[in-house]
Amino acid sequence: MNKVISINSSIKNFNKTITVDGDKSLSIRWALLASQAEGRSKAYNLLMSEDILFTLKCLKKLGIKINLNKKYCEIIGKGINNFNYKKNLTLNAGNSGTLSRLILALLIRSPFKIKLIGDRSLSKRDFSRVIRPLKKFGASFYPKNKSTLPIYIKGSESIKAIKYYETKGSAQIKSCIMLAALNATGTTKIIALKSRNHTEILFKYLKIPIKVKNKKNLTLIEVKKKNQIDNFNYNIPSDISSSAFFLVLTLLSKNSKLTIKNVNINPSRTGCISILNKMGAKITFKNTKYYKGEKIADISVKSAKNLKAIKCPTKYNSSAIDEFLIIFLVAAKSKGISFFKNLSELNQKESPRLKLGSKILNMMGIKTELTNHSIKIFGNPNLKLNKVYKIKNYLKDHRIFMMSTIAGLAFGGNWKINDADSINTSFPNFLKIIKNLGGKIR
Ligand code: S3P
Repeated sequence: MNKVISINSSIKNFNKTITVDGDKSLSIRWALLASQAEGRSKAYNLLMSEDILFTLKCLKKLGIKINLNKKYCEIIGKGINNFNYKKNLTLNAGNSGTLSRLILALLIRSPFKIKLIGDRSLSKRDFSRVIRPLKKFGASFYPKNKSTLPIYIKGSESIKAIKYYETKGSAQIKSCIMLAALNATGTTKIIALKSRNHTEILFKYLKIPIKVKNKKNLTLIEVKKKNQIDNFNYNIPSDISSSAFFLVLTLLSKNSKLTIKNVNINPSRTGCISILNKMGAKITFKNTKYYKGEKIADISVKSAKNLKAIKCPTKYNSSAIDEFLIIFLVAAKSKGISFFKNLSELNQKESPRLKLGSKILNMMGIKTELTNHSIKIFGNPNLKLNKVYKIKNYLKDHRIFMMSTIAGLAFGGNWKINDADSINTSFPNFLKIIKNLGGKIR
């Protein structure tokens, strides 16, 4: 169903404390690892979005029992590689890159071919990035040489440890290899460009034999097989990628203040905060604490007066990868020309985000210079909109929808944004929170 929303006025000033939905990366990782543990694991505040519901459905199809109620989600794991494999099984990963890339690793001992499918967006995305390492471990993929969904995976009895160079700075590739290593004889060695490290932190917490060494922009990881993982409960903190939309809405609105409670501020995820602070924001953390190795805090932000352009250091690319669209809106209102480079991976997301982000800025009258891997944004500190803006044909990318909504609320104009249901992918409460802050959406 295509639900269209309209925004006809910018948001009035607000001063609020909110919570946003649970972290997507941690929710998917908890579910997948709980399925490999022995017995009952519970998660509280699990993100109840489609990416997670598709994760739970895939696990159920593989014979895992799951109890879901309003308070918690319980997964009754059967141990490592104890899925109930059947002939002619099809798993649907929906829109989720993370689910689809990570679950393949848990199938590398399947005696039968398993078909993996996804929605229109996911079916355009590259899977050679995980097929290559999983083949090295000993799995087979069909049709041969195909790198997009649908694909079939067939496992093998003898999965052997590998050595792999991960050169895209992708946590999905790194995590896929780490999960496969749980099933492999020997020590798997990964040399990876830095990316979010939730899987490493969870492996340590679960006492899976892992060694991690951090070099300047590389992570060296060694993982060994484990025969048993104990069941584990988890309180999922809020998602910084979802929070980022409201941080930016506050920065771009007048006389406003916002606190977002209990957000995962793992340093491998906070690139957006560093970037926004360099552009003139004053975003601060309070009540910082650690939970099972993850850093958590309340985040506070105020309206910004003098935003300035940034030549964005590429060291932030991976830790801000899901936030660039919303950062581009800040660049649009900053003094000077912002420059973001080495971002070809942005075009590999749920939609080609570098391209579509630039197109939306152009619609707003902001000049950009775009290549396949970089964008220059010519900011306008007096940016105010008063035309009609129609957003459609963006492969239902949840983050394009949310970026456009924030643009309408921050800059004015008459916006008609298609496919409101896209928020169910990652942030079902997005529009409810906007209403709570006083945003008018029809
Ligand atoms: C994720 C990794 C990132 C990110 C995605 C979630 C994860 O993708 O964009 O939303 O949970 O591992 P890449 O690994 O492709 O960069």
